Amino acid sequence: MSQLLNSIPLIDLDKPSYIDDIREACTSYGFFYVQNHRVKSLRDCFLESMKFFSLSPEIKKIYACNTVNLGYTSFQDETLGAPSIQSCGDTKEGYYIGREGEELFPNVWPSSDIEGLEQWKSVMLEYHNECSRLGFHLMSCISLALGLPNDYFQSYLHEPTALLRLLRYGRVLSDPQRGIFGAGEHSDYGFITLLATNEVSGLEICKDGTWIKVPPKPDCFVVNLGDCLQMLTNKKFRSTIHRVIIDRSDVDRYSIAFFYEPSRSAMIGVLPEYRNIDNDATIPYDEPITYGEYLSRKYEATHSDYKK
Ligand code: OGA
Ligand code: NI
Repeated sequence: MSQLLNSIPLIDLDKPSYIDDIREACTSYGFFYVQNHRVKSLRDCFLESMKFFSLSPEIKKIYACNTVNLGYTSFQDETLGAPSIQSCGDTKEGYYIGREGEELFPNVWPSSDIEGLEQWKSVMLEYHNECSRLGFHLMSCISLALGLPNDYFQSYLHEPTALLRLLRYGRVLSDPQRGIFGAGEHSDYGFITLLATNEVSGLEICKDGTWIKVPPKPDCFVVNLGDCLQMLTNKKFRSTIHRVIIDRSDVDRYSIAFFYEPSRSAMIGVLPEYRNIDNDATIPYDEPITYGEYLSRKYEATHSDYKK
């Protein structure tokens, strides 16, 4: 693939050569588009998301996040970037949904008595399921791209940490100089993120110190790698910093991010196959820890009010 490429690669899951394309994308950008993904409930999920966000603030607050951060989070409640860079919270509101049926991480569901939301829960569960399947498939492609057996990551994914984040960005113009962002610069934590957006652009990724725009492509996901995968592969595969810059005040930007991550009990550390690779960015590795512990350390480092 050409070095002059200034757009992230497009992976077509119907093309036989896509494993090579994924390897190239993961070592260069850490980001790629995926087409022919077969997630059928994508459109419905957007429609349902829009219905929820159009409810009154009073009703939305009834479904505010519980103690494990699932449920509704209001405008500017969250700050993804460093507080020293951001002068206010991200100009977005969100709704977070984990894997259904986890005792310690109960989901919050809007009442099906709310007009229009009769199908809300079932659409979200269907979308969550379909994305989990796609995530699992992409992780087997990623194993092959790393030269590992295709089931290499299966033992990490018995009870995946799988989080759906519905987002609506407000009509507030971003101004990086003044510390105002749709979403502040950050990297994602886990294995992979499947991002879908409406037609309004805003995503930017930092490549070699320059911010490049990643415009939406119809019917494609934007997939990016998270810090945990970067750590396991000793930076062979990249977790790339990204942010959202809102430059329109006439429309809402909607996005749906699905974070696909190891089981909380999975032990994580640099893979034996990647411990001694010739890499000037080698990660120091201590004892492997569980992914749950890894997440706690990440939250502690980024959320000043976080308690274990
Ligand atoms: C995120 C993220 C981008 C977007 O939620 O981690 O990077 O376009 N979202 O909403
Ligand atoms: Ni992100």
